[in-house]
Amino acid sequence: MARKALMGPSIALELKALNLISPMSGFFTYGEFYTNSKTYKHELLNQTMTILSLSESSVNLNKTDQFCELKDNRGVSKTLKALSRLVYQTTIELEDINNSLSDKVEEEIRKNREKENKLMQQSRLAQMGEMLSMIAHQWRQPLAAISSTSTALEVKTALGKYDKETVQNSAKNISKYAQHLSETIDDFRNFFKSNKEELESSLNSMITSVLAIIQASIEDKNISLILELNTQKRFVTYPNELKQVILNLIKNAEDVLLEKEIEDAYIKITTYSDGETEVLEVSDNAGGITEEILNKIFDPYFSTKLEKNGTGLGLYMSKTIVEDHCGGELSVSNSKDGAVFKMILNV
Ligand SMILES: Nc1ncnc2c1ncn2[C@@H]1O[C@H](COP(=O)(O)OP(=O)(O)O)[C@@H](O)[C@H]1O
Ligand SMILES: [Mg+2]
Repeated sequence: MARKALMGPSIALELKALNLISPMSGFFTYGEFYTNSKTYKHELLNQTMTILSLSESSVNLNKTDQFCELKDNRGVSKTLKALSRLVYQTTIELEDINNSLSDKVEEEIRKNREKENKLMQQSRLAQMGEMLSMIAHQWRQPLAAISSTSTALEVKTALGKYDKETVQNSAKNISKYAQHLSETIDDFRNFFKSNKEELESSLNSMITSVLAIIQASIEDKNISLILELNTQKRFVTYPNELKQVILNLIKNAEDVLLEKEIEDAYIKITTYSDGETEVLEVSDNAGGITEEILNKIFDPYFSTKLEKNGTGLGLYMSKTIVEDHCGGELSVSNSKDGAVFKMILNV
């Protein structure tokens, strides 16, 4: 406004030039320059610094372009020239920025993916560690059976009491137990196959294959498993990843039940169909999750078991798998008995 007051009607000349260039360029700012300096006053006061600030390039425009006299036609054409150059220069700079920006975005995406893979690996390693103890539980019973069968055979042989039938039966039993051991190994192997393929599966079959691994170790700890499976629906998803989620939820419930030494401890697995969605809930009676940490438990590295065996990655990875890989939802709430984790899949 001050400028307009000072220049009077001759501002029209300047605006004419700017109006000419603005619809073409589509971007420039209109600014004013002011100085109190005596020496430069004449040169700078009220001169247009229009869009010079847009250009951060080290390429300098020549002096006449920057401080052109605007009060006659020569000035107008110089302004136009200067503005055209600036528009050109700025366009090139914007293109450069654009290009380097998309490079930067790609680089960030790549870094994020790497970080995610690393977390996934860490969480897998932690799970494998836990699995070793589950294998021990799974194997205890068949190993004890093999051992007692062969001891009995040995004793009978020593006493000269063996007969063909006993030997045959014992041998059969031993192979049956060995077969069981080998199946357990297959279960574990399949579980950890890094299979990112989409396959047809159902919540039931995922649960069955998780329980094949974890059931023995849970029951050994006097925790009851309650199954309420109300859907058979088959759908295409990433079953191997979802099995890890189910395992994580069950393992967390087991951890808290043991830590709090809950009597009549239970873990309940419920499934049902709800319109276009398949729902799985894992709940327990360990008292639930306190309000203060309820919104933190899905954060990476958040754990209340750090002194023990916690990594704080289980729920973070589970949420990533369900929400980012499978397009579903994983949430938690408290019931009167304990925590309820709910996984919703759109199928
Ligand atoms: N069923 C549950 N009941 C109570 N707290 C739970 C339950 N499941 C998870 N949590 C809490 O969430 C935290 C994060 O779990 P998770 O990401 O699996 O890491 P971690 O098991 O290694 O601690 C746990 O440390 C625990 O405090
Ligand atoms: Mg966990």
